[in-house]
Amino acid sequence: MAAADATAGDATVTDASAADARGAEPSPVAGGGPVIETRGLSKRYRRGGLAVDGLDLAVPRGSVFGFLGPNGSGKTTTIRMLLGLIDATSGSARVLGEPMPGAARRVLPRVGALIEGPALYGHLSGRDNLARFDAADPTADPRTRGRRVGEALERVGLAAAAGRKARAYSLGMKQRLGLAAALLQPRELLVLDEPTNGLDPQGMREIRSLVRELADDGITVFLSSHLLDEIEQVCTHTAVMNRGRLVTQGTVAEMASGARDRLTVTTPDPQRARVVLKEYGLTDLRVTEETVSGELPPGPADSGGPVDPAEVNAALVRADVRVRGFGRERASLEDVFVALTGEGFDVAD
Ligand SMILES: Nc1ncnc2c1ncn2[C@@H]1O[C@H](COP(=O)(O)OP(=O)(O)O)[C@@H](O)[C@H]1O
Ligand SMILES: [Mg+2]
Repeated sequence: MAAADATAGDATVTDASAADARGAEPSPVAGGGPVIETRGLSKRYRRGGLAVDGLDLAVPRGSVFGFLGPNGSGKTTTIRMLLGLIDATSGSARVLGEPMPGAARRVLPRVGALIEGPALYGHLSGRDNLARFDAADPTADPRTRGRRVGEALERVGLAAAAGRKARAYSLGMKQRLGLAAALLQPRELLVLDEPTNGLDPQGMREIRSLVRELADDGITVFLSSHLLDEIEQVCTHTAVMNRGRLVTQGTVAEMASGARDRLTVTTPDPQRARVVLKEYGLTDLRVTEETVSGELPPGPADSGGPVDPAEVNAALVRADVRVRGFGRERASLEDVFVALTGEGFDVAD
């Protein structure tokens, strides 16, 4: 990771509003439509293949939308197109109801963005870093700068550390400072590219709870991650990318309900137990010397679907199967991903 000096990190805080030189003007209201919507959005880099391939994305207002995919699957490329930082090769994108990059000057002041970690001046304090970001934003009112910087620091929990030099910040604090930079003005949408990347579990928890708070305030949050459990913990919706293509999108609950839980019976009579599980419609049965397991048919996330595991247990007992253990393994988004792509989820950095 980046050295804690000068410009820490190889990436930038995108002060999205810096692109807007015109300042406040009445913005066409996006109404109830999606906050982000793409049609056939594609990007082919000059060197290299199709990084994003025909992406149709719809991000509902008010959602915490997890843009999930292994490294190299096209997340950052998509985000750069959404923010007008690079041009699409084909297809279209609308953000807050307006075409991008065409309406960038109207749209970007309403969007806070943090892409791949903040670029900070290590020799400046957290507070001075924010003041500098704000000064670079032509739409920001210098008269309210001090107050807005203070509020942003407060919001990300850095008020007490505001006077310390940024190079003394932990990675998690730097990331929160990056978020504060994105929050110097009121935003309708936050776009966060891998906001917890490289953080320790404590730092990740801090970012996650901050994201929840922002969502509670009514800000739509679009965040990318290569970590499935992160998406499950914080997001209401998700889209899954693989090799530049959209694998699936929907609510996290829908997605998880598409996966099958696995029931495992520990018994000295696995063959007899197998017959019972089969009768109850369990699939992908696996037998070992002292266990048999099978997948429950899909159904609502918090029930066994059409099959109640308790009934299976009763049937096992009726069939004189000696049940020594009865377990249910929750299906995860990872299982869904593997089922949809036939591939494992590569979480290596
Ligand atoms: N500037 C670039 N020039 C050429 N290829 C690139 C560039 N940036 C990314 N890529 C390639 O595009 C694909 C998607 O990358 P990226 O959008 O960064 O994925 P992710 O953010 O999901 O890790 C990868 O194969 C990557 O190597
Ligand atoms: Mg990326």
